[in-house]
Amino acid sequence: MKAQFIAFEGGDASGKTTQARRVADNLNAVFTREPGGTTIGESLRAILLDPNEKVALRAEALLMAASRAQLVADVISPALSEGRHVVTDRFIASSLTYQGYASGLAVDDVLSLSLFATESLRPDLTLLIDIPVEESIKRRGLNPDRFEQEDISFHQKVRNGYLDLAAVENKKWAVIDGTGNPQEVASLVDKAINKRLDLP
Ligand code: TMP
Repeated sequence: MKAQFIAFEGGDASGKTTQARRVADNLNAVFTREPGGTTIGESLRAILLDPNEKVALRAEALLMAASRAQLVADVISPALSEGRHVVTDRFIASSLTYQGYASGLAVDDVLSLSLFATESLRPDLTLLIDIPVEESIKRRGLNPDRFEQEDISFHQKVRNGYLDLAAVENKKWAVIDGTGNPQEVASLVDKAINKRLDLP
């Protein structure tokens, strides 16, 4: 069986990280996250999420892509080549929604940049943990990062962007209702994975 590459996506505080870690454990997969996942990527993450930094939009898109390129080269591609499943907390779709749909860069440009970064590697399955924006704001912690500090219309554009992408690529995406408790969400996630992927 081919090693599977699974991405979790969603707005801030959607619960995707909890689900991504759980699925990675269950599948004995390599778990990683974006931006981050490598020494270089984690340094870029610190800059990108710092609320005191004023990152120009195109620099933001390039730094996200740089983190992704490093992660694919150092972690994701080697793991898949060794036959290991990989689960990532965010991937290309985060750039399409945050830097494209919500911030206003052309989505096609952001996609080209990401595909350059990943040498065209894309997930086999993307699970969108979808919650209303009002719910994500309610769940937010005390120290919001640079993206969490954006206004509600930004986050609404992120959510709409994700739903658009999921509708267009519906064979490779599953939209999961993230409003239930973690066990309820887990059961929806597991059902979607079992239905879509050829796992033992
Ligand atoms: P998270 O680890 O809490 O999901 O935070 C990562 C933040 O970075 C989140 O607000 C989304 C943002 N982000 C982008 O804007 N573009 C990207 O390509 C990625 C991977 C993340």
